[in-house]
Amino acid sequence: MNVLQSITSLLNDRKTVAIVGGQFGDEGKGKFGDVFAEWADVIARGTGGANAGHTIVINGKKYIFHLIPSGILHDKDGKKNIIGSGTAFDPGVVCEELDLLKKENASYNNLWMSMNAHLVLPQHLVMDRVLEQCDGKIGTTGRGIGPVYMDHVARMGLRLNDLLNKDDFVRKFRKNLRDKVRFLRTFDPEKVMEIMGHPHLGSGAYWDSHTFFNEEAIIEKYLEYGRRLEPMICDSDKLLSQWVGKSRIVLEGAQANLLSIDYGTYPFVTSSDCTVRGLAKGVGIPERAVDYTLSVVKAFYMTRVGEGPFPTEFGGDHSARWCATKGINKKSELENYPSVTVNDKNEFRQGVAIRMAGGEYGATTGRPRRTGWLDVPLLRYCRHLGCSDIIFTKLDVLSNCKEIKICFGYDYDGPPYRLGNKVVKSGYQMLTAVPALLPHCIPRYVSFPGWCKPISDVRTFADLPVELKNILDFVSKQGEVTPRIISVGADREQTIVI
Ligand code: IMP
Ligand code: MG
Repeated sequence: MNVLQSITSLLNDRKTVAIVGGQFGDEGKGKFGDVFAEWADVIARGTGGANAGHTIVINGKKYIFHLIPSGILHDKDGKKNIIGSGTAFDPGVVCEELDLLKKENASYNNLWMSMNAHLVLPQHLVMDRVLEQCDGKIGTTGRGIGPVYMDHVARMGLRLNDLLNKDDFVRKFRKNLRDKVRFLRTFDPEKVMEIMGHPHLGSGAYWDSHTFFNEEAIIEKYLEYGRRLEPMICDSDKLLSQWVGKSRIVLEGAQANLLSIDYGTYPFVTSSDCTVRGLAKGVGIPERAVDYTLSVVKAFYMTRVGEGPFPTEFGGDHSARWCATKGINKKSELENYPSVTVNDKNEFRQGVAIRMAGGEYGATTGRPRRTGWLDVPLLRYCRHLGCSDIIFTKLDVLSNCKEIKICFGYDYDGPPYRLGNKVVKSGYQMLTAVPALLPHCIPRYVSFPGWCKPISDVRTFADLPVELKNILDFVSKQGEVTPRIISVGADREQTIVI
């Protein structure tokens, strides 16, 4: 059986399938968006925005796409790609992606976008970057995501359809700017000017030294985007609800459960609910219409980008600080740490080596991703979000590791903390994850011997090394999850359906 046949048999007549991130993002959802697109008639996104990034290979060249779903390469076969109403829609980014597709002669005749998606405007990009320089840094991707959802909830956002109605757009746009300008006046104008020089902000074309924003330039550009996108703007919520139960639909998650505004490690989260609940809502269908959810989990290490608790991080705070240092990227890290190995006795250096081995640098920002061992209590936590069936990815990365550690629980080591009607004190042992307690959790590990041989060419579960299967068995039992698919490389063929 080839991969498509195995997946078709795994899905067993189910029609609507969601693929969500099971950890902190970057688990390799993009690969499966593409693999499942072959099975599907419709591929839809419903959460996040240009903060997401997936690699798409067109004519042998690699491109990072942010908003267009990874099913786009199947457009030529008539498969529909939808950017749903729950997304934060940056028209500039989408137009750039369309340009790339056009340049590579790839088709996008079946690409649709929701008229109700909220617009990312220059003021959102500026606000995101300014807020990050104030107290309480989140380590955002700087794509305007938080400020867009803030405006959405504050009932002052603009939606994609507004780009099609000039007078309406101008009125709402100017109104939306008012409180932003008031806020920016409390801030160092030099810094605002520097931020507005960013390429995502027209490299300074939107800057005005008196009012911060060159309103006319922005209005002109955005109405131009509107004219270009107009043929693709539609009521996608309505389409999806008509197709549910009839067509094969893949909902492509962005970010991940633990970054969900509602269920993640708040406040170190993104601003949409990127669990399957939010994803269904973001494409206009009820959660119960999703027949099957597959949660993508990196194994047996994991990563996180930006600030926030990460108990199993290799080298703890030292790693968190290093990864947050401005200007650190793949190249500078190689120069700083030319001789690290995945078996380094020093945990921090081991983490650097695993980051290099896994190519763990942000697709959107180029930042080094923080690395750590797989945290099973977090997997267990995600079960209540409907994530019990798992796609384990990147297993090939640890092939040279002599010892693999799995976190199965924590010791609480922090100040007394009231949790509802109980008080958690130092020394308390936990097998479950409580997001609020994570900053003070010390992981407890079980150690396993690694398999120490390449597995990228393995295509059946039976042929996987016994050491790997032992670890997988432990993780599944402790995490109360069922492995369904194992990925041993970036290629679609490097997929084992169990
Ligand atoms: P924002 O979504 O740009 O506001 O960023 C909020 C937090 O989510 C930051 O910690 C980001 O690093 C993280 N984040 C957002 N998008 C992604 C993603 O696609 N992968 C991993 N982390 C992400
Ligand atoms: Mg990503």
